[in-house]
Amino acid sequence: MFNKELFEIAKNVSKKAYAPYSNYKVGAAIRTKNGKIFSGCNVENSSYGLTNCAERTAIFKAVSEGEKEFEEILIYSNSGKMPFPCGACRQVISEFGDEIKITISSNEKIVESSIKKLLPSKFEL
Ligand code: THU
Repeated sequence: MFNKELFEIAKNVSKKAYAPYSNYKVGAAIRTKNGKIFSGCNVENSSYGLTNCAERTAIFKAVSEGEKEFEEILIYSNSGKMPFPCGACRQVISEFGDEIKITISSNEKIVESSIKKLLPSKFEL
């Protein structure tokens, strides 16, 4: 089910994105199994490959606060282009479980999916 609270948090944090190169601002909000919410935005760099996506910012904030049991993540961009998570973020999300629900949203559209669907054959050690 669509989580309006996560949507509002992701939308708000997207305004904090540091995206002077792409101008594509993204916000993510992740909810833990015990109900805590962590948010993150994309942080770009003049050395482009050092950019951190919004999803990974949110996950790294949560993990560094001791949380790694996640229920769902919502990703938001106010651009017309839907912020489907990149391959690196799919792998990072999948590290924390196969059942994590993923909602991709912009102002016009919402797509509900799961990490299992978006990354069917994850790399595992
Ligand atoms: N980006 C995200 O933060 N999340 C996504 O789901 C897709 C891409 C960022 C990375 C970069 O700062 C900008 O969007 C353009 O690729």
